Amino acid sequence: MNCHPATGLKNHVWRRYYCSWFLISIDREILSEGQGFVTSSKNANRNQGVFIVMTGDGLYQKVKISGQEKHMLNISGLTSGYGPVEVLHGLSLYINKGEIVAVIGPNGAGKSTLLKTIVGLISPQNGSILFQDRSIERQPPEYVLDRGIALVPEGRRVFAGLTVLENLHMGAYLERDSSRKKKQIDYIYDLFPRLEERHQQLSGTLSGGEQQQLAIARALMSRPKMLLLDEPSLGLAPVIVEVVIDLINSLRKEGLTIILVEQNIHQALEISDRAYVLVNGSIRMSGSASQLLETGVDMEKAYLGEKI
Ligand SMILES: Nc1ncnc2c1ncn2[C@@H]1O[C@H](COP(=O)(O)OP(=O)(O)O)[C@@H](O)[C@H]1O
Ligand SMILES: [Mg+2]
Repeated sequence: MNCHPATGLKNHVWRRYYCSWFLISIDREILSEGQGFVTSSKNANRNQGVFIVMTGDGLYQKVKISGQEKHMLNISGLTSGYGPVEVLHGLSLYINKGEIVAVIGPNGAGKSTLLKTIVGLISPQNGSILFQDRSIERQPPEYVLDRGIALVPEGRRVFAGLTVLENLHMGAYLERDSSRKKKQIDYIYDLFPRLEERHQQLSGTLSGGEQQQLAIARALMSRPKMLLLDEPSLGLAPVIVEVVIDLINSLRKEGLTIILVEQNIHQALEISDRAYVLVNGSIRMSGSASQLLETGVDMEKAYLGEKI
């Protein structure tokens, strides 16, 4: 983004800057971008902020100006772990809206620790986590959930002693409006007819695949903008893994942004846009999923922690 003082303009009230700009909607989607004169800001040359801009056609519009590409989630220099034990060592990554980004790596690499830190279950020792331009590091899990990030934990963790329907209600515990909750349950049942058939069944008696569907459905009850999936295929029969993969693909089509943590490299890369390889708490490789699939041997070496 460049802003520079406009010359030759007869306006002494505002300092004017000619800028590239983005017009964004209230929910922060970029609607259009272009160039125009910033008219109402004292600090337009700081390259960010919300300004009133006069566009080429003479209309005034409120715009967000940003010097950087906007990422939905931006993690920078994240150090996190358990008590004195540091598991993630200054890790940086980003996710754009609508992407599926895979985080792959061997057992013990820190994948679950990363997801738990994002959703506020672990408070990081250092670094920042920005979600839609707001800091969420060191915020409690309810806050992060309310901002729009939901976690489907490793091992599913459904409430075994509760019915399917009761589990779904638990996923929407921040929603006070019962008609909105009911609507969301109808939406979930459209997506997961199997869960509707079994809505009164105790969750502990569901099959592994059904429990995984329920865990995802429960997370969707909060209407998240971003879903974090921690090894959704773990322990599932191959045919059920296919069902879960199809489901992840259809969630993306609905506009959900997804972080997919997997140990199963190929399956994850096949449905992802980009991926990070996490080894011993550091990113060893990153790139588009297709690039990483092409550099298969190097990636697998990185994955195993070997020097490449
Ligand atoms: N609750 C915990 N307390 C202490 N250390 C933990 C805890 N959970 C995980 N760890 C350690 O953190 C490291 C990363 O674990 P984890 O994030 O679960 O890895 P991954 O999900 O990649 O398998 C491991 O060395 C693990 O032993
Ligand atoms: Mg894990």
